[in-house]
Amino acid sequence: MSVPGTRPRIVLTHPLLPEVVRDELEPHAEVRVARSRAALLRELPRADGLITLLSDRVDEALLARAPRLRALANYAVGFDNIDLEACHRRGIRVANTPGVLDRSTAELTLTLLLACARRVPEGEATCRADRFAGWAPDHLLGLELKGRRALIVGPGRIGTETGRLFRAIGLRVETLGRNASATEIRRKLAHAQILSLHCPLTPSTRHWLNAERLALLPADAIVLNTTRGPVVDERALVNALRNRTIFAAGLDVFEREPRIPAALRRLPNCVLLPHVGSATREARNAMARLAIRGVLGLLGGKRIPNEVRFRA
Ligand code: GLV
Ligand code: GLV
Repeated sequence: MSVPGTRPRIVLTHPLLPEVVRDELEPHAEVRVARSRAALLRELPRADGLITLLSDRVDEALLARAPRLRALANYAVGFDNIDLEACHRRGIRVANTPGVLDRSTAELTLTLLLACARRVPEGEATCRADRFAGWAPDHLLGLELKGRRALIVGPGRIGTETGRLFRAIGLRVETLGRNASATEIRRKLAHAQILSLHCPLTPSTRHWLNAERLALLPADAIVLNTTRGPVVDERALVNALRNRTIFAAGLDVFEREPRIPAALRRLPNCVLLPHVGSATREARNAMARLAIRGVLGLLGGKRIPNEVRFRA
């Protein structure tokens, strides 16, 4: 707890957006940026608050080094990198950045869909390699999307916004919620020409899209993943793409980021992006503000709408 009248010390694992930190955080706190693990371990003993990235693992071992820590904000909507139970046990409150990145992530999902359907990376690579041999009736034929059936897995804020964009281009959208029965899952997957994943990564969604479920999809299916890599069994997906049992996949996330398996990189029928779903000026700016307000609010003992609560 900070002594009344003194400013709390808040450690950031990345400078985030420096202007936002300068305007929104520095007037209220002593700010330290610790980019390496070693620097973080040096700063943690005196930290009252912490702002982490989704690539930082916040576990018991890390928290044990932070006896003063009372509040943590994850600069992300997902919080699978954080051991919430360990935070709860130590009385550390946690915030995330929901709501402000829904549109950007939905727009990126639509980008992946269009790029998959029209084989944009293959066409782009052809031009850049100076291998465009002239217009031809059968060159790079893709799929027209209007009227196709899309299935949104995880109709939360991002999934719902994605569904809205999908409807706007004429797709027929269905959703699959957390409590869907095995029968409902099988029936909906068998019709899903576009399968878009938006569920958070939890023990029950790890490898949700496995070989068995991939086999249910129609041959012209496009799989889109903009949530977390481990929701998909990457090996099974590579096999489906290689054997052409589905048409294409658009991936913004991978099982072991930042590693992308060579087998995936060699396949022509997938579109690969480096986890940039929320990477717009608008979303990242709003995320920085929300994370900062979150950590300051929690340190001040306030109720905030973006607190992540531990549920036993
Ligand atoms: C990004 O992946 C996020 O969870 O915000
Ligand atoms: C993500 O957490 C969402 O709200 O869809």
